[in-house]
Amino acid sequence: MSDAYILGIESSCDETGAAVVRSGEQILSNVVFSQIATHMPYGGVVPELASREHLRAIVPVVRKALADARQSYPSVDAIAVTQGPGLAGALLVGLSYAKALAFALDKPLIAVNHLEGHIHAVLLEERQKGNHEVNFPVLALVVSGGHTHLYLAEQKGNSWSYENIGHTRDDAAGEAFDKVAKLLGLGYPGGPIVDRLSSHGDPQAVKFATSQIKHPDRNDCGKNDRGKKDGKLKDGHGGFDFSYSGIKTAVLRYVETHNLAPAIEKRRRELSAIEKPKFEDYLALCEPETRNLVASFQRAMVDDLVAKTLAAAEAHEVATLFVSGGVAANNELRQRFEQDAALQGLRVFFPSRPLSTDNAAMIAAAAYPKWLAKDFAPMDFSAEASLPLERL
Ligand code: KG4
Ligand code: ZN
Repeated sequence: MSDAYILGIESSCDETGAAVVRSGEQILSNVVFSQIATHMPYGGVVPELASREHLRAIVPVVRKALADARQSYPSVDAIAVTQGPGLAGALLVGLSYAKALAFALDKPLIAVNHLEGHIHAVLLEERQKGNHEVNFPVLALVVSGGHTHLYLAEQKGNSWSYENIGHTRDDAAGEAFDKVAKLLGLGYPGGPIVDRLSSHGDPQAVKFATSQIKHPDRNDCGKNDRGKKDGKLKDGHGGFDFSYSGIKTAVLRYVETHNLAPAIEKRRRELSAIEKPKFEDYLALCEPETRNLVASFQRAMVDDLVAKTLAAAEAHEVATLFVSGGVAANNELRQRFEQDAALQGLRVFFPSRPLSTDNAAMIAAAAYPKWLAKDFAPMDFSAEASLPLERL
């Protein structure tokens, strides 16, 4: 089989990405232009600004990805692009550019689900390390700013299928990190700073009762009878849902009852006066009570994500666990998954940190089986903000 050089394009949220990946197993280039600086003053992603920034960045980012890979527009074999889920306006920028390239160059166009991309980030890096063996079934936790989803993934030939067995009922885990960080005057995005601050606080200091992370009835949203092998679950669908709006409210309550508002306001003011705050600035501006609160919040999030995912892995007798998406960059989450999965005899794989957050290499990698299967997108396909990942 000859090699395929796929140009991937990603623009679903606040990162403009382009990458060239050879045959789903070797990253030749991976360029990510982050818009964090644009959105930071607003404490979150502003969709209109995201679209505008993608428009500005897309051409230079793609050019750089081709140059870094020593490729050219005519030399790549196909153009892959994120179709969804994501911000509609942001997706449209990548998609329109990918369509224009495919049309002008007369190359196949491949539509990729962003969540499938996050799952294939793990596979891409394992193949790059020479590990081509994956023991199925695979359970993938995709945990990011927009998603906290559990998928059972299977491969049959060049075709991948995914079954969603759990998802967040309200906020995604990354969204909770971002909202709590914003609430505490720590800016945007919250995950990386909460991650680093947590190792400077006491994770036992504040008790977040499990009831604050609501555990819905495990069997209450079964839509089918796809059932469980060992009968532990009556329904195959929706057995392991997450919920993170409760813990966010619990942090807010803590802030109110402990009168942290003046300290938060002072921190917000002082951080905004620093052009590029360093970690030491955040640390210096966080009194022990806030550090403890942050560490306790992170511990509760990690406890819940790990416990639910491992329970799902056990119930579905999976052989391999993937943890991917922006929150998979979290240090405590990685350590706990490694430690607790080992106790269960389960192998757990993460992408490297650059491939955990949004990037286009994962899109080009997920496109490779579709390229082999000649699963090409028609020129009139459109962006889908809520595109589900479910192919059985
Ligand atoms: O996958 P991603 O780049 O974009 C989406 O598809 O959402 O994920 C971004 C999310 C943000 O919510 C960010 O705060 C979170 O991932 N994140 C982290 C860490 N790094 C990024 N959350 C916890 N710990 C981290 N180290
Ligand atoms: Zn993502």
